[in-house]
Order: sequence, then C-alpha cells, then structure tokens
Amino acid sequence: MSDGKMVKMPMPRMDSVTVAVRVRPFSQREKNSGSKCVISMHSRTTTTIQDPKNPEHRKTFTFDLAYWSHDGFQKDKDGVFISTDPSSTFASQKDVFHDLGRGILDSAWQGYNATLLAYGQTGSGKSYSMVGLGANKGIIPNVCEELFQAIEERERNQEYQVTFSMLEIYNEQIRDLLSRTKQPGGLKVREDQHLGFYVDGLKSVPCENYAQIERLMEQGTKIRTTASTNMNASSSRSHMVITIQFRQVFLDRDLTKQSTINLVDLAGSERQKSSGSEGDRLREGSQVNLSLTNLGNVISALADAATGKKVLHIPYRDSVLTKLLQPALGGNSRTTLIAAISPADICYEETLSTLRYAERAKKIRNRAVVNTSTLMRESKAENDRALLARGNSGMAEQPARPLAEAGPWARQLEQAREEWRQHHVAVAKEQWIMKTLPHLLNVNEDPQLTGVLKYFIQAGSCDAGRAASNAIHLQGLGISDKHASFTNSDGKVTVTPHSKCKVVVNGVPIVTKTKLQHLDRIILGSNSAYLYIGFPSERGSEDLTRFDYDFFQLERAAAEGVSVDKLGAASHGDGKTDPGMLAVFQDYVRLMPLVAEANQMGEELKKGLRMELKVKNLAASDSRGHELQKEVMVKVTNQRTREVWIWSKAKFINRKFLMEELYQRFLDGEDSHVAQEDDPFWDPVEVVHLGSAHIWLQSLAYSMKLEEQVEFMNCEGEEEAVVHVCVTPCSPAGRACGEEDVVIDPSELLGKRMDFQVGLVRCLGVKWLKEDAERGIQMGYRMYDLSSTFYTKPVWKMVNPQIEETVQFTALNASQEFLNYLQTNALIVDLWGLQEGCAQLDCSQSDLMVTSEGHIMVDTKKMSTLMDPGQTPSNQISELYMKLLKLEQETELLRDTNRALREENVFLKQSLEKVGSTQQGERLPHKPSNTLKLTWTAAHPPAAREMNQMYTRPASSDREFAKALKLFYHSMNQARGQLLRLRQEKPPEEDEMLRPFVQQQAQRLKDFGDALESSLRRLKNDVAVIVKKKREWLIPRGLSLGVLCQFAEIIAEVRLSAKGWLEEPQGLKGYSGGAWGSLVKHLTSAQVMISQFVSSLEEAHAGCAHRHPPQSRTRPTHREAGENT
Ligand SMILES: Nc1ncnc2c1ncn2[C@@H]1O[C@H](COP(=O)(O)OP(=O)(O)OP(=O)(O)O)[C@@H](O)[C@H]1O
Ligand SMILES: [Mg+2]
Repeated sequence: MSDGKMVKMPMPRMDSVTVAVRVRPFSQREKNSGSKCVISMHSRTTTTIQDPKNPEHRKTFTFDLAYWSHDGFQKDKDGVFISTDPSSTFASQKDVFHDLGRGILDSAWQGYNATLLAYGQTGSGKSYSMVGLGANKGIIPNVCEELFQAIEERERNQEYQVTFSMLEIYNEQIRDLLSRTKQPGGLKVREDQHLGFYVDGLKSVPCENYAQIERLMEQGTKIRTTASTNMNASSSRSHMVITIQFRQVFLDRDLTKQSTINLVDLAGSERQKSSGSEGDRLREGSQVNLSLTNLGNVISALADAATGKKVLHIPYRDSVLTKLLQPALGGNSRTTLIAAISPADICYEETLSTLRYAERAKKIRNRAVVNTSTLMRESKAENDRALLARGNSGMAEQPARPLAEAGPWARQLEQAREEWRQHHVAVAKEQWIMKTLPHLLNVNEDPQLTGVLKYFIQAGSCDAGRAASNAIHLQGLGISDKHASFTNSDGKVTVTPHSKCKVVVNGVPIVTKTKLQHLDRIILGSNSAYLYIGFPSERGSEDLTRFDYDFFQLERAAAEGVSVDKLGAASHGDGKTDPGMLAVFQDYVRLMPLVAEANQMGEELKKGLRMELKVKNLAASDSRGHELQKEVMVKVTNQRTREVWIWSKAKFINRKFLMEELYQRFLDGEDSHVAQEDDPFWDPVEVVHLGSAHIWLQSLAYSMKLEEQVEFMNCEGEEEAVVHVCVTPCSPAGRACGEEDVVIDPSELLGKRMDFQVGLVRCLGVKWLKEDAERGIQMGYRMYDLSSTFYTKPVWKMVNPQIEETVQFTALNASQEFLNYLQTNALIVDLWGLQEGCAQLDCSQSDLMVTSEGHIMVDTKKMSTLMDPGQTPSNQISELYMKLLKLEQETELLRDTNRALREENVFLKQSLEKVGSTQQGERLPHKPSNTLKLTWTAAHPPAAREMNQMYTRPASSDREFAKALKLFYHSMNQARGQLLRLRQEKPPEEDEMLRPFVQQQAQRLKDFGDALESSLRRLKNDVAVIVKKKREWLIPRGLSLGVLCQFAEIIAEVRLSAKGWLEEPQGLKGYSGGAWGSLVKHLTSAQVMISQFVSSLEEAHAGCAHRHPPQSRTRPTHREAGENT
C-alpha cells in the first residue's frame, strides 16, 4: 500500500483502545521447516486464523486495523521493503506509521497523553514495528523525527520542550537505559498524589532535534545489549519503555499543554504452557513473567468492567509495568495496541492467544483529557516537588523528574548540550577507529541488539576476557577472566584460546593460534557470538545481516555433524524431507546453545549434572509403528550418582529460565544457595522410560499363539533389552487353543467370546542394569480400550530378570473395531528403569471389569452402554451378557436367511425380466456365467439349522488351509518385527563413503516393507471375501482355487521384492565393528529370515495345492475371486 492510496485512519471512539494486528513474513527458520501460513486478511479490519490441525475451523477477528506484511513486497535500492505492485496489499513500515504514529502525534499536539503498546510472542515482530531494523525504521524513530520536523515549522513565539527517557523492566527491576551506572536492585517506582506513579531517579534527557534522539536510542540499545549478555538474559523477556514528554508553552497566553507519550515494546508473550512451567514441578517462580501476566489481568479486569461486569479491583499495583501503564489502561491516555503475529502454522496456538488478548484489550475504555495548565500553577507545583525531592536524599545523579517538574528548562538544556558535545566527539572517534582497525561485532539472537557492541583489535597483542584489566573486556557465560588473546601484526589477526577456554571459529572449536579472515564467525564461551571485521583492505560491500544468530548456530551444528539426515529423517520417496523432521531439526539447533549454557551454569554452580539433547522417535510408542513425529528432549545425568532424568523441551526451557535467575544471584555475589526442592537443577529421582517393544497382535485375530523375543528400542532406535513374550488365545478356563481353533477369517470371531493371555516371561540383557547393577526395571502395557496400564512387579539388580507374569483378557462379544485393532496394531510394552529412591509404578489393578472367572474384560464399550455396572455384580453381567450374545447370534442367523431370500427374490425378478427381453429382442449368446452359478446356489438357501452347522464347523479343506495360513501369518509377523527393527537402525555416523549406500538401503527397506504390507492386505481381503461368500452358500465348492491362485501370485510378488534382499552386496561383509557391525548382523539375519519366509509361503502353497489341485490354470481376476466367484 503506497502513501497515495492511504485512507485516513478511522478515529476510534475517543475513549476506546485502538487495536491493530500485523502479520510478518516467514522467518528463515519457518521457511526451513516448511511452515504454512494460517493467517489471512480479507479487508483492512479483519484477520482470519485457520487451525492447521482442522483446516475447516477458522476464526475471524475484527479490529481497527489489520496489516498484511507477510508477502507482496520487495526491497528498494536503499533496502526498504515496499509493495511489489499497486495491487499488493502489503503494509510497509510507512503505512503503519501513517495510521498509528500520526494518531499519536495528533494526540500529543492536542495535549493528550498517548500510549502505544506492542504485544505478541517472541519473534512476532513487536520490535520491528516499534523500532524497526536498518533502513526499515519503525514507529518510534518516525514519531520522533516528525515531531521535530513539525516543531521546526511552527511559530517562534512558543516554546517546545521535548525530553526522552528509556528504561527496561526485567525481572521486576527497572534499569535506566540512558545511565551507565547500574542501580543495585534497579530503580524504584514511586507514587505522587498528583502525578501518579513515576520512576524515581530515571534520567530524562532534553532533546532539541531528532539526531539527538537517535543517538540516545543507540546508547540505550547498547546498554540493553551489554546487560543482556552480562546477565545471560534474553532481551525478549524484558519490556522496553520509551517515554517522550512533550510540552508546549504558549508564552503569550500563560498556558502550557503537555503530553506524555509512552512507547512500549513488551516482552514476548509466550504462555505458560509453551514456556513449560505447566507440568513441571517447579512453576516459574521467578518474577520474569510477573509484569506481563499482571498486564493481562489488568486488561481482563478492565474489559470486564467495560462490559458491565462488576469489578471491584483493578490490580495495577501488582507489578511494575502496570503501575507505569496505569494512565494508558483505563485512565488518562489515548491508547493503541499493536498485536504482532507470526503467520506460521507452528505458532497457531500462540497467535490465537494473541488475537484473543487483543480482543479483550479492545473493550477497554479510557478517559483521555487535554493536559493544560497555567504557568503560575506550574511554578507552584514545582516548588512543592522541590521540597519533596529534598526529603528524598539518596537520589541518583539526575533526580526523578517527570517533565512537569523539569525545572528551568534553559538550565537543563545547557547541561544536555555539554553532554552532547562530549558524546559527539566519542562517536566520531569510534567511527574513525571502525574504519581503520579490525574488530569484533556482537551477534545477538535479537536482531535489534546485533552489531551494537564493538571490540577493536589494536596493533600488537591484547587479551580478551571477563577481567576488567583486559584490553577487550567481555562478559558472558563461560567466558573466563583471561579467555583468549588476539594479535594484530604484519597485517594479520590471530586468536589464541587460553588453556581450556572455549573458542569456536566458523563452527569449529580451536585450541591453538588461528588466523582470522574477514567475516569469520567467532563464539567465545558457551554462546557469545561475534563477527570478525577484517582490515579495511579486506572489506567489500557485503551484507552483514546474512551472518545472524541463526547462521552461527546452524554452522556450529553442521560442524558438530548435526543434520536433518543425522537426526533420523527418512526422506520421502520424492527426495523431500519430512516437514515434521525439519521442524525437529530447527528445534534441535535452537536448543543446542541453550543446553551448552545450562551445562556451563551447572558447572559454575557445581551441580555435577550433564545435560544432553536427544531426539525421541514417537514411532516407538505408536501401536501401528508408523514413523510419526519426533521430538527433542533433554537427558539429564547426575555424574556422581548416575541418576537419570528425561526432560521435555518445554520443561528444559522453563528450567533454563530458573537456572539463569539462580546464576544471576551467584554472579551478583548474592546467596545462590537454594533449598533442594526449589533448585532448578534438581528433581526427585524418577522412573525413566527406557524403550518400547512392539508385539504385533495379528495372530490373535486368527486364534494363533505368538511366542517371540522382541527388542525394546530406545528413543534413538537402539536396543535396550529383549523381552520374551507369549500371546496365547485360550479357552475361558485358560487352556491354550490348538491348531483346530485357528480361523481363516477374523470376522468369524465377530460377536464371539475371545479369551487370550499376555505373558511376559523374561527380560534379557537389560542395558540399564548393565550400566549400574543397583538399578531395577518394570514393564508396562495397555490393552486396547482399557484405561489403566498393567505394570509388572519391580525387579532389581538383575540383568536378565525372570518376570513370569501372565494376565488373561476376555472380550465377551468381540467387536469389529477390536478385531480390526488386533489385525493392524501392536501391543506396546514399555520398559521402565527404576533407580534407587524412586517411586515404583503402581501395579495394583483396580476399577477394572472382570469376568466371573476373574479375567479382565476388554472391548467393553458396547457393554458399558447397555448396563450400569455400579448396580450389577460382575458375574451377573457376564451371564446377562452371554444371553444377549446368544440372542444376537440368533438374530444374525435370521438376518442371513432373510438376506438370502431377498436375493432370491431379486434373482427371480431379474430372470423374469431377462426372459421377457430375450424373447422380445435378439437371443443372448449362451455362456455359463458366474452370475448364473451364483444365483443358482442362492436360489437354494440352506435352512437356518444347516447354516448354523456351517457356521460352527469349518470344512476340512478349510482347516488345511487355515494351517497353511497360520504358518504364513506367523512368518509375516516375524518379517514385520524384523523390518521395524531394521528401519530403526541408525546408519554409522562417521563413514561418509557408505552413507549413500545406507540411504539406498533405507529406501529399499521401506519399499520392501510397503510391498509386504500391501501383498498381505490383498491376500487377507481376498481370503476374507471368499470365505464370507462361501459361508453364505454362494460358492458351492472349489473355493480354495481362487485363493490358491492369489496365493501363488502373491508369493511371486513377495519373492520379487525380497530379491534385492537376497542379493545383498557382499562388500558389506568386511565391516564388523560398531554400528556397521550391528547393521550387517541385522541385514544377514534379515536375509535368512526372508528366505525362510519365502519358503514357508511356498510350503503353505504346496500344502493347499496338494489338497486342492487347481482345476484350471487361469487365475480368476480379483473381481471374480472377490465378488462373483
Ligand atoms: N513486518 C516485518 N517485515 C519484515 N521482517 C519482519 C517484520 N516483522 C518482523 N520481522 C523480522 O522478524 C524477526 C523478529 O522480529 P522482532 O525482533 O521484531 O520480534 P519481537 O516480537 O520483538 O521478538 P522478541 O519478543 O524476541 O523481542 C526479526 O528478524 C525482524 O526483522
Ligand atoms: Mg523484540
């Protein structure tokens, strides 16, 4: 939107808060992780947000203004973002200023107080809108510039007084960003009867032109940057408040008009949920969030009051920020809120919460008045305040002075001019040095704070470190007193780390003297990042913004060998990486420096912990074993006691904030000792999830026993232990089913009683116990629809513990869902590690429904809706249920008969019609069609009694076939398990040459797995359809022929896809050690297994073929076999 098509902002009702929303472009990180845009703006006032998980679900918000800054822009020659073409709806910095900034200026000239607040999550663009970046200046500089421009143009018989102050609120402490001396504990907020709340001792600098304001802002940003690096605190957690006092003195009219303009860049608004204190034992006890949380409370209370609800108290006094913003919120100010939002789907929750916040703020009603006074009245007020100030003895260099009490303006101005002169000389000198000397520029996560600190490397040698005596005085986490030395001689600059100090150049840690090149990236200590600017002769016109914080982190990660592939991203067949995995990679890279910082703090505070980033593969806990998402988590180990904790990402972030606070106390020389339960580095010893095993339940659906040794895989896909498990279908009394009970089609079990036992026999080679013999384990699993988990009893101090725990489950009336579940899902058995002193997992089973025999009932959804278990004892339930079951079976039988009769009717009708039509028209060529055969049999449906017999007694040919199938399904199960394990196998990291081979291998594994699954699905479907038809007497005999032919074909398919496997490259055999060794082992055993599998298929086929010699070589088509046979 260009200036030309700007519409004048609709002035809001005088007393309501103006709310604007602005959506920014995708960040590089969002682009890298394949984010999608969930925001749309269809008019200048509406913002629509779409739920990425449920795209139908959209919510539209209407505010005073909606700014689309997401796309439709380009950079002009000065680097300013402008619309690509006139039709673009892009809102530039100018557009935003035009509406919001001008409104503020108008208010100021009229004598109203004005407040502009920027609200939004971290990185949403608050500072960009308020301050701007580079050539794209934000509202604050533009307001200041235009204010002075307008003053220049005004008449001379008036006096205009402008003062500027800049403060930061972090952790409920106020820091004056224009003062070099830090007040211990921060500045205090005081209250004056007339003035309200004000900051005592805050420097307020008189300004005569915009250049001075620019300089002050630079100065303030520099102090903010230093503070943020020294304290190792993220600037996004602090609020920045700039206050401009503007006074117009009408000398001829004995009148003054004054306005206070507050421009507030709020801290990132991450909710508790994503910042992780939810679900953590330690809630963020810190004050870091207090001001923001309380701002929300004040806004909610005011919104309630405005909508007529009874509100007794507005909690202004509960935090520093709300005290200072009292006039802006429900008081004497015209207020504007700009809600900054990210366009990305991954930020959906946060963005929605920002929009809701803005919606509440919109309801607030203010009562702004023009602030005028007579000069006489002012001078009296000033006397009073002078008295007040005298009573306030220990005041700072510049007393606390809201502008109204500024004292003789001329005197103040003179003092400021002197300071300007000194400052000007210093700035000119610095600029000259920058042009001549090589130097380091700081790189901060906040782009506004990047390039603010400069460290010059003078000729000769100089030390850099924490000690004030160093020529380069650096502070930051993990930076030692003497950290490194820089030399500048013979036109070369080198850096040498001192003893064990951490210095990383271009991602690679260095230990010896290293020559620096222009634009090298240097990280000192845990995470203090600098860009090296070489000699003038080396410099060109490079774009330094390329080397931002993310660049440093990605480079470091790459050098450490962290990549999307390495984190286990299986790329899709199309060569594109899974977007979920890209997001995990971004998370991993973002957390890497934070984990390094946390370790450094822990080391200095002597906590003896080691934190490591891990990627958790959620497929391990997915009962279908599909590769779902992955998640980053942090493993914490106590190096002395070997206790282990697993923290979620959110919990780690929460803890990191608390660690920072504790560490800050330590740096300040305060008591950093905390009670154990308040220590962010401490947690009670807990049970640790070690890994999961998948036990495929398919054989249960065919009434076949499964006995297997299955690996527990940890989150990284490595084997943690092996479990010996039996899943046995049995009679209600617990007698194991035999071969004669095997069913061909699981739907035969529909509505019947199914009993089965899950037995965990033994655990073998538990790594957790090998590492530390004092530990123990428990196993746990959840069966189908049961809400509670079955835990085995704890066993301690045994690497191969005998478990021998069997539970019998009963489905009284197996539902279709349950049968489907058995066929496609695995039982996930989790292995839990116990450590000394931790609470074990509760293995008592209460509130479960049991049968009269005492077995645990599953698949009870249908039952629970039928009866009230609270009133009926469980044995009565089972009896009633058996009766119901019988009734249902009878009904089903009657339905079958009914269906057959109906079909007969249809057939007769059709035959009649056909006869009629052939008599009328040409005779159809005679062909013994399947349809005819089929309908002929349907014309003679069996009596219900006969059907009943058929239903319960399978034909002997079926039994043979069932046996063959049993073998088949069993092999299939093993193949599946093995495939799953193989696919979780991680390729060896170090061997570059073999990487392509590993990738090819992974792809083949995937293809093979897919082929296997689809063949199996087809076979099962065909078998089921044919068996069903037969049961309905639609296929009289020779039924197995179709299946047999299908079978033969499927064997051929499986053989084909297994071919690659059986011809595994021999070159692999030379590798025996490490991860390669285990991969080769897996491959070899897979080869053996797959060839066994193929031969068992062939045997099964031969067995069937022997019983049912094919009558015809032609294989019926799928349609024939499935539908018309
Ligand atoms: N409208 C925009 N156009 C172009 N870039 C933008 C826009 N808004 C934000 N950005 C960029 O997005 C990044 C994050 O913005 P910004 O620093 O303003 O976020 P923030 O809300 O202040 O975050 P924090 O709470 O961490 O301070 C910056 O690199 C900024 O330049
Ligand atoms: Mg910011």
